[in-house]
Amino acid sequence: MERPGLITQLGMARSFIKDVYVARAKTEYGARVLRAPVARAITWPGRLDPYPYFDQVRDQAPLSPSPREPNVHLSATHDVCKHILKSREFGVGGRTIVGKDEVEFSMSLLEMDPPEHTRLRRVAAPAFTPRRLTAYGTTIEKTVHERLDAVPPGASFDLIRQLAGPLPIRIISELIGVPEADDGLFLRWGTALGSALEGVHSLRHAQQVLSAKLGLDAMFERLVQERRADPRDDMLSMLVAEEGGAVRPEEILPLCTLLLVAGFETTVNLIGNAVLALMRNPDQWELLAGDPATYAPRVVEETLRYDPPIQFTDRVALQDSTIGGYDVPAGDRVLCILAGANRDPARFARPNFFDITRTDNSDHLAFSGGVHYCVGAPLARLEAEVALQVLAERMPTLHFAAKPKRRNSVTIRGLRSLPVTAGA
Ligand code: HEM
Repeated sequence: MERPGLITQLGMARSFIKDVYVARAKTEYGARVLRAPVARAITWPGRLDPYPYFDQVRDQAPLSPSPREPNVHLSATHDVCKHILKSREFGVGGRTIVGKDEVEFSMSLLEMDPPEHTRLRRVAAPAFTPRRLTAYGTTIEKTVHERLDAVPPGASFDLIRQLAGPLPIRIISELIGVPEADDGLFLRWGTALGSALEGVHSLRHAQQVLSAKLGLDAMFERLVQERRADPRDDMLSMLVAEEGGAVRPEEILPLCTLLLVAGFETTVNLIGNAVLALMRNPDQWELLAGDPATYAPRVVEETLRYDPPIQFTDRVALQDSTIGGYDVPAGDRVLCILAGANRDPARFARPNFFDITRTDNSDHLAFSGGVHYCVGAPLARLEAEVALQVLAERMPTLHFAAKPKRRNSVTIRGLRSLPVTAGA
């Protein structure tokens, strides 16, 4: 059976987009696809603000058939998405990535179901214990200060390029055990691989992705050799120590690659989306600037609910399943619109307001749920909290310097640039 692609609708998103172009032919089928809320949410200009379309999906029904693909169902309802993510009747069923035949790579944990998933997840989890987090905290704070020291007083700067991008790459490098000297290469390769999450759109792009993958594999192989001879206190050394036991040798590179892409492409957008929401809601920025230590964690949690960096995921029914009277036959896929579930008025009061004083947002699905619940969640929260706290302490008068630019992606939601200034 053909397996679905990575963090969900890569394939779906691309075929929706293709369909929208085909729909220009104004066939009856095309017209139906064009009107479909999810198609609007992932194409321009709907993509700028996809949330009203997710509301439409939810208003239609808690679960509904995809208007485009047979054997696919959609949900933007909190209860339903949460249920599916936690249910043992659903799994990921061996996802692989990436579009074009030329480039295909394993997504490690994300494509594994229990018991294999449980085995490998146990190996990754110790990298995120509270003891480890305290150690990363020191590097996070140092990096944030260094990045802000480099901004001349009163100058405008791109928050993504100057702070939100470099911070996670430094931290994930430290976690995995990549030397600081290789940060630049790591960033370039990580960005190329991350861009493939949306699907490969041209032969040139496929070549870039492939060469990034080969480059990364070679780097990790070199580092694995080094750690075999000289273990340190990092993920690579942990994996080498478990090699042949809990970890198969061929699982090491995919796990490191997943950590790189998952740890980098998401956290950059959590910080970016948080600052964007704060700049658009100056009263909320005032609150943060008035008491950064108290409000930084609240900003992070509210951003995860209000504008999550990963908008969708999917699951496959491992057996015939019925949810609230709606049948999902074995083998069918459900697209869980995490970003839509986070705006479900049945779960969150005034869901379309960005409100850092709210207390009802802890049950958001930004980090998914069930066995695949984001293993890096505590680290992502810590990075974003420190970044926002230090930013608000050092630049309390921060405001937009120019219009932000959105990145051209669908599953991953974030900005390409966010020009800001603390000056006049
Ligand atoms: C704001 C930041 C982040 C967001 C929004 C995020 C979101 C997610 C989501 C939605 C999933 C589950 C996908 C699914 O259920 O199909 C996931 C899984 C994962 N994330 Fe994160 N993530 C973030 C940061 C990180 C960081 C910093 C790391 C590592 C350093 C990380 C590593 C992982 C890994 C390894 C998995 C796979 C877990 C598994 O399958 O058991 N993530 N993340």
